[in-house]
Amino acid sequence: MTPPAWDRPRVAVVTGAGSGIGRAVALRLAEEGARVALLDLDGEAAERVAAEIASTGATAVALTVDVTDRAAVDAAVAGVCDRLGPPTILVTSAGLDGFHPFLDITEQQWDRILGVNLTGTFQCCQAVAPHMVEDGWGRIVTISSSSAQTGNPLMTHYSAAKAGVVGFTKALALELGPRGITVNTVPPGFVDTPMLRKTESRGFLGDGIDHHQATTPVRRVGRPEDIAAACAYLVRDEAGYITGQIIGVNGGRTT
Ligand SMILES: NC(=O)c1ccc[n+]([C@@H]2O[C@H](COP(=O)([O-])OP(=O)(O)OC[C@H]3O[C@@H](n4cnc5c(N)ncnc54)[C@H](O)[C@@H]3O)[C@@H](O)[C@H]2O)c1
Repeated sequence: MTPPAWDRPRVAVVTGAGSGIGRAVALRLAEEGARVALLDLDGEAAERVAAEIASTGATAVALTVDVTDRAAVDAAVAGVCDRLGPPTILVTSAGLDGFHPFLDITEQQWDRILGVNLTGTFQCCQAVAPHMVEDGWGRIVTISSSSAQTGNPLMTHYSAAKAGVVGFTKALALELGPRGITVNTVPPGFVDTPMLRKTESRGFLGDGIDHHQATTPVRRVGRPEDIAAACAYLVRDEAGYITGQIIGVNGGRTT
């Protein structure tokens, strides 16, 4: 028999939960019985997903937050504690891509891409981790990218930021392991979300989604639910011996 996900109800924070992968993670964790806080720069999108979750009878709250703004992140986490209780699960899916020739990248573009993807991950982990330490139990999953593993032309900033997330995850896992907290990263590859569709429409996906599907070992594009399934496993009680790991979910495109 499959054991329950947790020995007691848990509160989960999911960033970037208004769209794509974050939305799928929030829906899945709610389905597993967690009370879920959805943090997103696009507050209306987060509200829509929270309403979708509430319509299933589960509990969700939406908060408008720019993950690069520490004061806003702290206020949001305080709001989560008030409305749902202390969070002991965190999935950081808020992310921003960008396509710029290396020689043309401005300092502002560099700072924003690193700010959202890397510093935003740091801010959210540091804001939520004290509640995990207090509880003696916690689960963190960062969403990095296969770009960190392979590199990507026109994405030196994004690849660097996501590689930073991978190193950050490994280091944090070593530091928080003795406190009962696991920290893992899922680097998605080629997942059908608004981000991927926008990349295709802007002409940055080479021969397009169809060609990529044909060259992907499992012969399909990834679905947000594929990433959510991996995250849902990593945050279960029974995944407590998995930490500091890179769990690629990419149809075999990167091994
Ligand atoms: N889709 C893919 O193929 C793919 C591949 C590799 C990595 N990723 C990563 O997965 C994560 C989710 O991507 P997605 O494809 O679902 O993209 P998406 O654009 O559909 O969703 C990203 C969400 O993050 C939010 N966001 C952006 N900046 C923010 C900020 N500063 N503060 C708070 N929220 C912010 C957006 O409003 C949006 O709701 C990202 O970190 C992305 O880099 C995606």
